[in-house]
Amino acid sequence: MTLWHGRFEGGPAAELMAYTVSLPFDRRLAADDITGSRAHVRGLGRVGLLTGEEVSSILEALDTVEAELTDGTFVFEPSDEDIHTAVERRVTELAGPAGGKIHTGRSRNDQVATDLRLFAKRELAAVARRVLDLQHVLFERAVEAGDAYLPGYTHLQRAQPVLLAHHLLAHGWALARDVDRLLDTRDRLDVSPLGAGALAGSSLPLDPASVAADLGFARVFANSLDAVSDRDFVAEALFDLALIGVHLSRVGEEIVLWSSEEFGFARLDDAYSTGSSMLPQKKNPDIAELARGKTGRLIGHLTGLLATLKSLPLAYNRDLQEDKEPLFDAVDQVSLGLAAVAGLMATTTFDHQRMAAAADSPATAATDLAEYLVVAGTPFREAHAIVGGLVREALEGSTSLAELVAAHPALGDEAAALIGEGIGVRRRTSPGAGGPEPVAAQVEAFRARLDADDARVRAAGA
Ligand code: ARG
Repeated sequence: MTLWHGRFEGGPAAELMAYTVSLPFDRRLAADDITGSRAHVRGLGRVGLLTGEEVSSILEALDTVEAELTDGTFVFEPSDEDIHTAVERRVTELAGPAGGKIHTGRSRNDQVATDLRLFAKRELAAVARRVLDLQHVLFERAVEAGDAYLPGYTHLQRAQPVLLAHHLLAHGWALARDVDRLLDTRDRLDVSPLGAGALAGSSLPLDPASVAADLGFARVFANSLDAVSDRDFVAEALFDLALIGVHLSRVGEEIVLWSSEEFGFARLDDAYSTGSSMLPQKKNPDIAELARGKTGRLIGHLTGLLATLKSLPLAYNRDLQEDKEPLFDAVDQVSLGLAAVAGLMATTTFDHQRMAAAADSPATAATDLAEYLVVAGTPFREAHAIVGGLVREALEGSTSLAELVAAHPALGDEAAALIGEGIGVRRRTSPGAGGPEPVAAQVEAFRARLDADDARVRAAGA
């Protein structure tokens, strides 16, 4: 029998139950559901809607339900539509008439919103911790990379040399914004919807603020309709997670490129690469590829939920049940991805020589040659044209760029000396640039950011 059978003459059709049940996935909210119920029951006790004895016997039943769910002895009934009805049914079996009072002044609509916010608060902090773990790996690899340098690219064409540390920390800063975004989303969702009831609050003397405080929420809802229909926090969380996926996909794409024979910048550790079932020589960057591939699914979760929310009338509609599976999956996939990419980045060997050889190709000095002319008073556009002409000449003829530069009246030997091993990277000297001096400052700034974020994530419980 369902919890709402009173109004109905007959029972639900098998097809209805098969299509509408959420228990297969929302049982993941069991612990949060019990937490919410405990606070709700204590709240009912405080305002005199339950006696002290009733509160105690319901809390005791909730303890039993929690233990049964944890040790796997909880028996679900075919009529349990979702985790909320399953828990309430069992509490009523255990606590008798007092159990029948647990749902006083509450609806599954404010209950499920409460559960999901408790879940999101905890899990977003946990994801932020995993992002930090990956940032630590990138930071350590950056420090260890020392003076190693590689070509920086635009349009995937060699552009100007930068330190490997600079390149690794570029991904680190993107992840720093992710941590910030997760904590920001978490702050905004820190609102208790409990006490909103089905949609309009209650005629009973509920005290939602005290229940919010009991649950550790920072704030309480201001509008009951909004409280039960708001899933902005799920959409925001899905955006945050999708963007982390996008960031992982960009790291992944580079590892795919770098580990190819064509680049030869990186060698993958055996434990973080896979073989081919047919081609004996293969060592494949599957983690890096799935970091790209799974991001499609994360973006799908975000757009899917936005489509579900679009045009929904106030307040609760069953459509909202579709909020949970994308959120659970996104949290799981991003968590697995962060750990796998952290392992991949911690164990990959970088070939500093191959990187340097690619970075030292003469044309990557072209901008420095133009800037040499700028310092001597030539307008940049003119300098650009002069050096561009020399690069074209070098490519078309048999004279090297260095020789052409040395022979040019406005350039000469001093300018030609700008072409050479490791010279270009040392000239990246402006603030935030990719050369040794600014990168040393950047490393310190990144270290400070990691320490500060570490404290923020710890304060958020992870
Ligand atoms: N399983 C439902 C959900 O996830 C719980 C809320 C059901 N509320 C209702 N009025 N049928 O949204």
